[in-house]
Amino acid sequence: MFTEHVSVLAKEVAEWLDNLQEGGICVDCTLGGGGHSLEILKRYPKVEIIGFDRDEIALEIAKEKLRKFKDRVSFFHENFSDFAEILSLKGISKVEAVIADVGMSSFQLDNEERGFSFEKNGPLDMRMGLNEKSAYEVVNNYPLEKLANIIYVYGEERFSRRIAKVIGERRPLKTTFELRDAIISAIPVKLRNKWKKNVMRVFQAIRIEVNGELDNLNKMLDSSKKRLRSGGRIAVISFHSLEDRIVKRKFKEEEFIALTKKPVLPSEEEKRINPRAKSAKLRVAERA
Ligand SMILES: C[S@@+](CC[C@H](N)C(=O)[O-])C[C@H]1O[C@@H](n2cnc3c(N)ncnc32)[C@H](O)[C@@H]1O
Repeated sequence: MFTEHVSVLAKEVAEWLDNLQEGGICVDCTLGGGGHSLEILKRYPKVEIIGFDRDEIALEIAKEKLRKFKDRVSFFHENFSDFAEILSLKGISKVEAVIADVGMSSFQLDNEERGFSFEKNGPLDMRMGLNEKSAYEVVNNYPLEKLANIIYVYGEERFSRRIAKVIGERRPLKTTFELRDAIISAIPVKLRNKWKKNVMRVFQAIRIEVNGELDNLNKMLDSSKKRLRSGGRIAVISFHSLEDRIVKRKFKEEEFIALTKKPVLPSEEEKRINPRAKSAKLRVAERA
């Protein structure tokens, strides 16, 4: 069921956080397969990781991967959005670094039961973890106007209205393939051979809505403002322009000093080895 999750820009993230040389706490908001944390633990022997993931399965995988370092890692099955409050409850007021590698892991994408991939048939789910609403509810119960707006805004998909209309005619849709077929049917015939991009955008939009991804990202960046000590660093990897825009804008606020004027991109070699890295952008800032 599981394939390996290859961490994106792992070496670069660890290098940018060289303030960790002296030790301290690093919050990993998105433990996932544990790859970024592993790199940090190996490189900075005095660092302790406080790790979050809203996905219980991801946490188990990360625990296994970081087994050797278990005395230096604590695991929290929580949404990263309010990590400032969770740290307060643990009596931690300031940390040295925060990393977030937002989006899905390969474990999530490749497991057809989770319903994230349009290339595998599965239930319309797409929940990363602790939230209640599934893709089924968004696709089948939302008013069509609202669904079209989500597809337009979160997917930047120009045929949003046509797609919502076909979905409306075919509801209830139960599987990822039923949704995929509805999207393809809504694309003008002469553009249909390029359907993959449209389908990808609609799936992205629904996933963002299901998991409240942009809202969580905003809140996580605000949590970082509160909990990073002055001179502490934050590294965020995002996978589409809506997320990157949020990070870029936040890093312009007075609490942050952007260290990367332009986002750091994966090398050609990394993109070749790991296609998931293709759209990744890393931005790093220091707490003023
Ligand atoms: C791309 S993976 C992280 C991979 C990890 N950095 C590694 O190197 O293996 C993203 C992870 O973030 C988790 N995630 C996404 N949004 C989250 C949120 N709001 N709160 C907590 N975890 C979240 C997902 O469940 C997923 O496991």
